[in-house]
Amino acid sequence: RLKYRYLDLRREPMQHNIILRSAVTFATREFLTSKGFLEIETPTFIKSTPEGARDYLVPSRVHPGKFYSLPQSPQLYKQLLMVSGFDKYFQIARCYRDEDARGDRQPEFTQIDMEMSFTNREEVLETTEELMRHIFKKTLNYELPVHFDRISWDDAFDLYGSDKPDLRFDMKMQDAAFMADLSDFNAFKAGAANADKNIERHKRSGLKVLVVKNAADKYSRKHIEALEAVAKINHAKGLAWMKVDAEGKFEGGISKFFAGKEAEICTRLGAEKNDLLLFVSDEKWQTACVALGAVRKQLGKDLNLYNPKDEFHFAWIIDFPYFAWNEEENKWETEHHMFTLPQKKYWDTLESDPGAVKGDLYDLVLNGYELASGSMRINDPALQERIFEIVGYSRERAEKAFGFLVQAFKFGAPPHGGIAPGLDRLIMLMCHEESIHEVIAFPKNNLAASPMDECPSAVDQSQLDDLHLKCTEVEK
Ligand code: AMO
Repeated sequence: RLKYRYLDLRREPMQHNIILRSAVTFATREFLTSKGFLEIETPTFIKSTPEGARDYLVPSRVHPGKFYSLPQSPQLYKQLLMVSGFDKYFQIARCYRDEDARGDRQPEFTQIDMEMSFTNREEVLETTEELMRHIFKKTLNYELPVHFDRISWDDAFDLYGSDKPDLRFDMKMQDAAFMADLSDFNAFKAGAANADKNIERHKRSGLKVLVVKNAADKYSRKHIEALEAVAKINHAKGLAWMKVDAEGKFEGGISKFFAGKEAEICTRLGAEKNDLLLFVSDEKWQTACVALGAVRKQLGKDLNLYNPKDEFHFAWIIDFPYFAWNEEENKWETEHHMFTLPQKKYWDTLESDPGAVKGDLYDLVLNGYELASGSMRINDPALQERIFEIVGYSRERAEKAFGFLVQAFKFGAPPHGGIAPGLDRLIMLMCHEESIHEVIAFPKNNLAASPMDECPSAVDQSQLDDLHLKCTEVEK
């Protein structure tokens, strides 16, 4: 299909997708322009900054040994436009990231990139909601709700095991720590114990349960093993289970450890006859949540739990942790990018308790995918320097990489913030496709190559000479 893409694109479903894409970009421009946003282009040859994914590099002929990089997003430029006094900016921006391909990732992709000055979180979220409503109404004649759900990052993991939960079905995970005391089933003790730093903070345990309604007779031991495999791929040690039989007694799996405790357990968990109970227990709250969350997602598909009236379920995930601990490198990193504003109530304790800091950042999720990310930005150079320091950027290194931004802020930067919905993912979901390949006219394959025009390709020696480049791999 990619080799003869021009023929593939003749097919009706592909025509539909590409035509919808055009309609969506038109509706985007129509809406944002009417709201006073200016469409401003930013450069595609920029300075390489050591953040996020790997950069694509472009060698300079004029400056031997020097490189431009292709932007992973226009982040710094849109912030600089705010310093320049443009009140609201947008761009349908091409972005480039040298990261491993997946169904919802391409090495080059497009964002609806937005930034606003003298704004706050509320205004960014509402503008994005309005934009989405306009796009869906205009192109699909579909009415989205006026406001989207808002879920804290903590709750998203605790209830759905993901920061991009699929909310088209409402099966929530529950805490089952109380069950550790009801028997001597050892595997539950570690999960229930508050061994994890996270748990102290969240007052949540690493023993999670899903009550799957009316599913006991649908799940044989073999089917449950398939669910266990999903949990294990997601780093669970196992998936414990039992069923509530027609008499209200537990049967199968770990039932013998809880015989006689049916009444208490079923009441607390809201479990009834013919329900299937699935448990993951782990010392780490987040590990347990993620593994059982993956099982939840699989159950959604297996049992087709999606509400047919809820075709597009948007939600905001808010109150993200600002920093994430990098176990391998033994250091704090920022969860979003380093220009994100930490929530004000944590400003005094950034250095003393980085793990507790929440960021003024938000993700928009749709049907289990991260559709957009954004944040309020730092506009105070001193606060920006503190963040650089916490994530281990010396003054020198920060100066070299981002000095121009900090310098710009010294001339006065308005409070500002923004967001960037991924256009490819948006169209993919609007078209009910499983991969963004289906909504990009000429995508790359999973090896970041284009079989049609055989790109990337070798180049003439003279071109390499012009660029002062020598390919060691080819010589080998
Ligand atoms: P972020 O890196 O989260 O944020 O990207 C925003 C959105 O872009 C889309 N996206 C991708 N789509 C296809 N292929 C990829 N490789 C890919 N990577 C990201 C996703 C994602 O939610 N500058 C910030 C935004 C901001 O703070 O304003 C940024 O780029 O839909």
